Amino acid sequence: MENTENKKVMLSGIQPSGALHLGNYLGPLRHWPKMIEEFDCYFFLADLHTITVRQEPAALRQQTMTLLASYIACGLDPEKCTLFIQSHVHQHAELGWVLNCYAMFGELSRMTQFKDKSAKHQENVNGGLFTYPCLMAADILLYQPDFVPVGEDQRQHVELCRNIVQRFNGIYGEVFKMPEPYIAKVGARIMSLNMPDSKMSKSIPDGCVYLLDKPEDIARKFKRAVTDSDTERCVRYDPENKPGVANLITIYASVTGKSYGEIEAEFEGKGYGAFKPAVGEAVIETLRPIREETERLLKDRAYLESVYRNGAERASYVAERTLRKVYKKIGFIQK
Ligand code: TYM
Repeated sequence: MENTENKKVMLSGIQPSGALHLGNYLGPLRHWPKMIEEFDCYFFLADLHTITVRQEPAALRQQTMTLLASYIACGLDPEKCTLFIQSHVHQHAELGWVLNCYAMFGELSRMTQFKDKSAKHQENVNGGLFTYPCLMAADILLYQPDFVPVGEDQRQHVELCRNIVQRFNGIYGEVFKMPEPYIAKVGARIMSLNMPDSKMSKSIPDGCVYLLDKPEDIARKFKRAVTDSDTERCVRYDPENKPGVANLITIYASVTGKSYGEIEAEFEGKGYGAFKPAVGEAVIETLRPIREETERLLKDRAYLESVYRNGAERASYVAERTLRKVYKKIGFIQK
């Protein structure tokens, strides 16, 4: 499956640090299956990144297999794109080290995610947490992608990667292609259902809907979603004054394809009592086939193993080519 047609290249990854949630799905993942026809796509499971926070080994293994199954269940056909596990392609860690030496302490210190995570895990502010964007830059640059589809919270890391490209190419010539972040217009920042001023993440479990949640749990989470105390209780897209309602409208728009105006018209005069369960129902129906297919695939371990082995082989081939070029430019002796 070599890129013989000179298609543009696209790459992205998700950490198997917990179960996939609706933010991961609506932000980047749901757009990926459409891209595999048009682009030469690499999608990986960013397991090296997860250990910046302590992981329970058995849980990490389970989550990685579940994420792989969910990638396929969401429509990433392994025959049409390269699916692999990051730690299977050793070039990521190698290029990550090199890029550490081309990222500045000051720019790494400005990363919002580093500030957030180091505040949250004060007992474990390790070096990996700090240099994580260099490994992410390596993930990207090994495959020389044109686009990197991510949610809004990863934009800063892709920008840092672009700074590294500029610095590196400035010294050694055109080694890396400049990647562009590719961020969806709707859904790039899904907020927590119970704390709509924080992004949806597994660190706020009550406001987080997981892709494999049971329908009754999804329904319950949406019924309890925070809206506002506004007496008019009207379904109107106003993120500043009604962030909870705006978030639900965004979710509903993402899963139904309806515009904000159509949604406002649909619920005119109906209030939140009708709106919240309708959003829950639409999400349940979107996620149902993904959950069922993930569960089915998880029973076929041999198939999943063949997918990640083939994926690693294809990814390593491309990654090695870039790494050799980088080593040569830097001045390392070739083997
Ligand atoms: P991660 O695993 O935290 O999240 C995976 C993807 O989901 C997006 N996302 C969201 N989008 C909308 N609303 C939300 N509430 C929300 N929460 C998460 C993220 O923006 C991301 O696109 N560092 C990355 C993984 C990574 C990577 C890469 C991505 C490692 N190397 C190279 C692209 C390219 C991360 O931790 O994402």
